[in-house]
Amino acid sequence: MEEEIINNLVYIYFETKNLLVRQYTMKDIDRLYEIMSNPLVHQYTKDKNCPWDRLKTEQYIRFFMDKNFVTLDCFHGAIIEKASNKIIGLAGLNPYKENEPEIEWKLGAMYWNKGYATEIGKDIISKAFKTTNIIGIYGMADPENVASRRVLQKIGMNYLGINEFRNKKDAFYYIGRLQ
Ligand SMILES: CC(C)(COP(=O)(O)OP(=O)(O)OC[C@H]1O[C@@H](n2cnc3c(N)ncnc32)[C@H](O)[C@@H]1OP(=O)(O)O)[C@@H](O)C(=O)NCCC(=O)NCCS
Repeated sequence: MEEEIINNLVYIYFETKNLLVRQYTMKDIDRLYEIMSNPLVHQYTKDKNCPWDRLKTEQYIRFFMDKNFVTLDCFHGAIIEKASNKIIGLAGLNPYKENEPEIEWKLGAMYWNKGYATEIGKDIISKAFKTTNIIGIYGMADPENVASRRVLQKIGMNYLGINEFRNKKDAFYYIGRLQ
């Protein structure tokens, strides 16, 4: 099914050795819901209405399809594992400060610790700096989210300390264009 979607000219944000990140289609709802309805995926994120229900999944996909972002300064896309041709999670850059977005990933629990977030994160950084005017990228993680903090470190971000983010204390990381 993924092949069919891609051949129908769905925008691919980028492709790495094992993964690609592409725009959503409405056909993605069931698979993304399967991933995002697992409470483990939201253990350290304090987003509203978690784990996701089917309606939230549909609204999320519709929002990003309607916005139709095609530049990397603000986007969210479906992560596809090339070997299985399956959606394994989501990744993107969220607006935070002007020209300084925040990176986000959420992978299905069975795909953790395979190096995938690191692979995507490095590519988001290099492609976003090459193709947009952003001057830096922030990464925020719950201080106890060891995996997320480790990934932010592995993709070259510097630790800035603990700060307030969306009404909670998060560990802040940052990488600037000149690094
Ligand atoms: C955080 C997340 C994106 C990481 O994705 P991932 O593909 O598993 O990350 P990677 O495999 O690239 O790297 C994970 C690193 O964390 C380390 N790690 C994972 N769990 C750990 C733990 N409990 N203690 C210590 N290190 C841990 C891994 O060993 C690895 O580091 P290493 O390469 O030095 O060994 C993934 O766990 C996830 O989607 N979690 C749920 C959503 C979330 O918290 N998103 C982040 C905030 S939006």
